[in-house]
Amino acid sequence: MGILIVLLILLFIHIHQSGHHQEARGTATRGCDLSQGNWIADESYPLYNTSDCPFILNQFDCITNGRPDKNYVKYRWQPDNCNLPRFNGEDLLRRLRGKSILFVGDSLSLNQWQSLTCMLHTAVPRANYTSLRTGDLSTFTFPSHDVKVMLSRNAFLVDIESESIGRVLKLDSIEGGKKWKGNDILIFDSWHWWLHIGRKQPWDFIREGNHTYKDMDRLVAYEKGLKTWAKWVEDNVNPNKTRVFFQGVSPDHLNGGKWGEAKARFCEGQMVPGSGLKYSGGSHPAEIVLQKVLGGMSKHVNLLNITALSQMRKDGHPSLYGFGGKRSLDCSHWCLPGVPDTWNLLLYAALIQN
Ligand SMILES: *[C@@H]1O[C@H](CO)[C@@H](O)[C@H](O)[C@H]1NC(C)=O
Ligand SMILES: *[C@@H]1O[C@H](CO)[C@@H](O)[C@H](O)[C@H]1NC(C)=O
Ligand SMILES: *[C@@H]1O[C@H](CO)[C@@H](O)[C@H](O)[C@H]1NC(C)=O
Ligand SMILES: *[C@@H]1O[C@H](CO)[C@@H](O)[C@H](O)[C@H]1NC(C)=O
Ligand SMILES: *[C@@H]1O[C@H](CO)[C@@H](O)[C@H](O)[C@H]1NC(C)=O
Repeated sequence: MGILIVLLILLFIHIHQSGHHQEARGTATRGCDLSQGNWIADESYPLYNTSDCPFILNQFDCITNGRPDKNYVKYRWQPDNCNLPRFNGEDLLRRLRGKSILFVGDSLSLNQWQSLTCMLHTAVPRANYTSLRTGDLSTFTFPSHDVKVMLSRNAFLVDIESESIGRVLKLDSIEGGKKWKGNDILIFDSWHWWLHIGRKQPWDFIREGNHTYKDMDRLVAYEKGLKTWAKWVEDNVNPNKTRVFFQGVSPDHLNGGKWGEAKARFCEGQMVPGSGLKYSGGSHPAEIVLQKVLGGMSKHVNLLNITALSQMRKDGHPSLYGFGGKRSLDCSHWCLPGVPDTWNLLLYAALIQN
């Protein structure tokens, strides 16, 4: 009898502990604000080497382009109140079996898409893959895992159409959305192109309803375009099938005054992260617009809140070792491996939560 009671007590303790343990794991990141934290030096980083990623685009491959300092690949994002799950590519491929992910956006989507394909390929280096670009669509597949990771280049999300008067950016038209249906995970981004002027501006007029404008406050136009996108999500996304993410605003580092180094020449020569406290730029104005639009939606869109954590990484850009070389510093995109790997860790944390 005594032994039985002891056994029952032990059994009770065992059940209690394992239940507790599971709960602790299951709620590792739920309710925790992953956007607040610090960059910590971590010798186990980077998560992959560019030599492991034969398809990496030259514009992000800073080390091959001659970047001499290498500490920038050795930082891990540490949220204040929990840990980000360590990336497990095989686990992610298992969860995604039979599914398709589509990134829709500008070259910062390209940056994150490349990072994710490098992270996945490094996890299963012997698995065959295919990588194909047709027009604006790039498709990366792992046939053995039946997983597709795609990228559709679309900088504004809303449409640009050629008319007799010129190229018209139509703030309330989103025909491009027809190509987004049927995917399991959609990850949008849009911001940087809304600012372009002069030769880099790919439209001549802006139209809303029956009104055609020569130009408009760009933040106002951005908000109108985002609202059209939000309506597309409300009308077309079945939340039982498709999860929708928005890659938050990716900050650039063109103005040293914002991080307390007024004399800095853009991001040139930056080799260490800045601290969050020193960064006096405040909330990014586009981020405030995005937050407002997402907040007004009835369908859930998961914001990958990358803005503040990326603001701290003035050292993470290609600078002289990117697209334009010495003639045109790149302080907008990010070296790979690098900051977008952490954006994908945020994506992974959200995907494994349920
Ligand atoms: C990257 O290369 C370094 C040096 O060769 C090596 O120590 C490290 O393990 C590699 N990282 C990965 C993720 O393969
Ligand atoms: C990869 O593809 C090649 C050629 O199509 C095939 O011979 C090989 O068996 C495949 N490998 C794996 C691991 O599926
Ligand atoms: C826009 O123009 C069309 C035809 O030109 C007209 O039918 C419609 O009522 C106009 N819409 C608004 C909001 O004025
Ligand atoms: C989603 O699933 C729920 C519960 O199974 C169901 O009630 C609802 O009608 C579904 N919604 C759509 C749009 O299919
Ligand atoms: C993103 O996170 C930062 C830092 O926690 C916060 O200040 C900001 O409001 C968040 N942005 C959005 C759009 O939620």
